[in-house]
Amino acid sequence: MATLALLLLFYLFHLQLDVHALPSSSDYDFSYMKSVYSASDLPLKEEYDYIIVGGGTAGCPLAATLSANYSILVLERGSVPASYPLVLKSSGLLTNLLQEDDGETPAQRFTSEDGVANVRGRVLGGSSMLNGGFFSRADDQFYNESGIDWDMDAVEEAYQWVEDTIVYQPNLSAWQSIFRDALLEARVGPDNGFSLQHLVGTKTSGSIFDNEGRRHGAVELLNRGELKNLKVAVEAYAERIIFSSKTSGVTAIGVVYSDSKGRTHEAFIRDEGEVILSAGAIGSPQLLLLSGVGPVAHLSSHTIPVVSQNPDVGNYMFDNPRNNINIVVPFALDPSVLQVVGITNDFNYIEALSYNTSFTFPQPFSFYSNGITPLELSVATIVEKFSGPLSSGSLRLVSSTDVKVSPTVRFNYFEEPEDLVRCVRGMRTVGDMLKTDSMARLKFEDLEGAEGFRFLGPSLPSNQSDDVSMEAFCRSTVTTIWHYHGGCVVGKVVDGDLRVVGTNSLRVVDGSIFNTSPGTNPQATLMMIGRYVGLRMLQKREEAKQIIYYQRK
Ligand SMILES: Cc1cc2nc3c(=O)[nH]c(=O)nc-3n(C[C@H](O)[C@H](O)[C@H](O)COP(=O)(O)OP(=O)(O)OC[C@H]3O[C@@H](n4cnc5c(N)ncnc54)[C@H](O)[C@@H]3O)c2cc1C
Ligand SMILES: *[C@@H]1O[C@H](CO)[C@@H](O)[C@H](O)[C@H]1NC(C)=O
Ligand SMILES: *[C@@H]1O[C@H](CO)[C@@H](O)[C@H](O)[C@H]1NC(C)=O
Ligand SMILES: *[C@@H]1O[C@H](CO)[C@@H](O)[C@H](O)[C@H]1NC(C)=O
Ligand SMILES: *[C@@H]1O[C@H](CO)[C@@H](O)[C@H](O)[C@H]1NC(C)=O
Ligand SMILES: *[C@@H]1O[C@H](CO)[C@@H](O)[C@H](O)[C@H]1NC(C)=O
Repeated sequence: MATLALLLLFYLFHLQLDVHALPSSSDYDFSYMKSVYSASDLPLKEEYDYIIVGGGTAGCPLAATLSANYSILVLERGSVPASYPLVLKSSGLLTNLLQEDDGETPAQRFTSEDGVANVRGRVLGGSSMLNGGFFSRADDQFYNESGIDWDMDAVEEAYQWVEDTIVYQPNLSAWQSIFRDALLEARVGPDNGFSLQHLVGTKTSGSIFDNEGRRHGAVELLNRGELKNLKVAVEAYAERIIFSSKTSGVTAIGVVYSDSKGRTHEAFIRDEGEVILSAGAIGSPQLLLLSGVGPVAHLSSHTIPVVSQNPDVGNYMFDNPRNNINIVVPFALDPSVLQVVGITNDFNYIEALSYNTSFTFPQPFSFYSNGITPLELSVATIVEKFSGPLSSGSLRLVSSTDVKVSPTVRFNYFEEPEDLVRCVRGMRTVGDMLKTDSMARLKFEDLEGAEGFRFLGPSLPSNQSDDVSMEAFCRSTVTTIWHYHGGCVVGKVVDGDLRVVGTNSLRVVDGSIFNTSPGTNPQATLMMIGRYVGLRMLQKREEAKQIIYYQRK
C-alpha cells in the first residue's frame, strides 16, 4: 500500500514538473531597449568585462546572465526587432522569409553549394526572431553525445528560467488538431498531451508565439539581466578578434567592429574577461577564420596570418534535411505555425503548418484578369525531419577581409546512406497519415464523386513500399528546416567548456558547437545553453576569487 502511495506521489510530482503551467499570452516586454545603442554612438575605444559577438538565440540569455555581476558589450550586426514589425507577429513569418534581401532585412538569404536556399537571422534576437516558434527540449541522447559534462539540475533550472520568461502554451488551430489526430491514428503514440519534454509519441509543445500571435524571441531574455551592466550595440559588425601573444599562448583581448557609418571601433576586455562568439553556425566559424584561427592551408590561401592552427574550424557543417508535402484544402483553414510534433521511435520528427497562398504568391499568381481576386488557397503542410544528420560538409571563406561577404557552405545532404533510410522511413509515416480518417476531410471530390488529395508541388510516390522511388522523392524534394549547425564542434574546435582549443579567453556559445541537433527543434536548447554557460562562468569566477582570497590569507 505504502509503495503504491509513493509511486502515485512520484507520478503526480512528475506530472507537475512536466506541465509547469505556462501562460497563453502576454504583452511584449521592450525593457531591454534601455540597454540598446546604435554602434555609431559608441566610443571608438572602450573596455568591458565580457564581449559577446551576436545578440542571437544563445547570445541574449548569455549576456543577461553574465550582466548580473559584470559589464557586458553585445555586438549585433542587425537592428532592433521593432524596426522590422514583421518579425514581431506570427502572421509576418512567411512574408518576412520571402522578403527580398537588401543587406539589412532581418532574414539574410544564402544558398548552400548543394543548391538549397536558406536563411539566417540578422536582427537583435537572431534567428529566434525569424523562426517557427516551436519550443521543445533536447532528447536524452543529445546530452550523452554532446561532449559536454552536463549538470542536469542546472540544465533543468536553465530551461525553466527561459520558459518562465518567453514560452507559451498554444491553443491548437484547426489544422494542428487534425494533424495531431492523424499522427495518433497512424500509430505515432502514445498521446503525450502537452509537454516541453522530448517524448516518443505525439505531443503539443510550447511556443515563443503567444496566442495573440506575438513573438517573444530570445531578445526578451535580455530583460532578465542587470540592464545597467549591459550595453547592446546594434548595427555593429564584428570584423575580427584581437589577440595578444604577450602572455603564455594566444589570448583574445578584444574585438574590432564597424558601425553603420563605416567607422572602426575597438572594444577590449578587462583582466579575467572573455570574448564569446555567439554569431551562429555560419557567423562564428567565419569570425574565427577571419581572425586567423583555423586550418593552415585555408588561411594561407586567403593570406590570413595564422594566429592559432585549428584544423576543424568550418568543418562538420550539418543541416537536417526537410521534406514535406503540401495539401490544398477544400475549405478555409486558419494559418498556423508549428504546435504539434510526432516523434517516432526511430528518430523521425513530423511537424505541420498551414498558410494561404495569398501570402506566398501575391500578384503573379492572380487568377482573375481584373486582378481583384487573388488566387487564395488554404494549404496544409506536413513536414518531416530526422535526428542527426550524419552527413556533413564544410564552410569556407569567400572574402578574407569583409565579414559582410557570406562564406560558402556545403552540407552534402544524404551523403551518408543512413540519412536516406531515415528520410524514407519518415515519409512512409507521412504516407500512413494520409490514409487516416482524420485526413479524409482534406480531400476534394471530383465530378465523378471520386475523392483525393490535391497537392501543391510533388506528392508522395504512389508505391511507398518501393525504396528506389521513395529515395528519389527524398533527394528531389530536399530543402532545409533551418536547423543547420556545426562549424565549431565540441571535441574538435572547442572543448567541453566551449573554450576555443589552443587559445585563452575565447569561447563559442551557439549552434556551431553541435555535432547533432538537439531535440525536435534546437532553439529551446540554445537558449538553455546561453543561460547554463553564463551561470557556470559566474560560478567559476566566484570560486577563483575565493581561492585567491584564501591563498592571500
Ligand atoms: C525560418 C526558421 C525557422 C525555424 N524554426 C524553428 C522552430 O520553430 N523551433 C526551433 O527550435 N528552431 C527553429 N529554427 C532554428 C533556430 O531558430 C536556430 O537554430 C537558432 O535560432 C540559432 O541560434 P544561434 O544562437 O546559433 O544563432 P542566431 O540566433 O542566428 O544568432 C546569431 C546572431 O549573430 C549575429 N551575427 C552574426 N555575425 C555577426 C557579426 N560578424 N557581427 C555581429 N553580429 C553577428 C546575427 O545577426 C545573429 O543575431 C528555425 C530557424 C529559421 C531560420
Ligand atoms: C545515456 O548514457 C547513460 C549512461 O551511460 C545511459 O544509461 C543511457 O541509456 C544513455 N541514454 C541514451 C538515450 O543514450
Ligand atoms: C486560448 O485558450 C485560453 C484557455 O482556454 C483562452 O483563455 C484564450 O482566450 C485562448 N486564446 C485565443 C487567442 O484563442
Ligand atoms: C488567408 O489568410 C488571411 C489572413 O489570416 C485570412 O484573412 C483569410 O481568410 C485567409 N484565407 C483563406 C482562404 O483561408
Ligand atoms: C511496389 O514496390 C515493391 C518494391 O519495389 C514491389 O515489390 C511491388 O510490386 C510494387 N507494387 C506495385 C503495385 O507496383
Ligand atoms: C557577484 O559578486 C559578489 C561579490 O564577489 C558575489 O558575492 C556574488 O555571489 C556574485 N553573484 C553572482 C551571481 O555571481
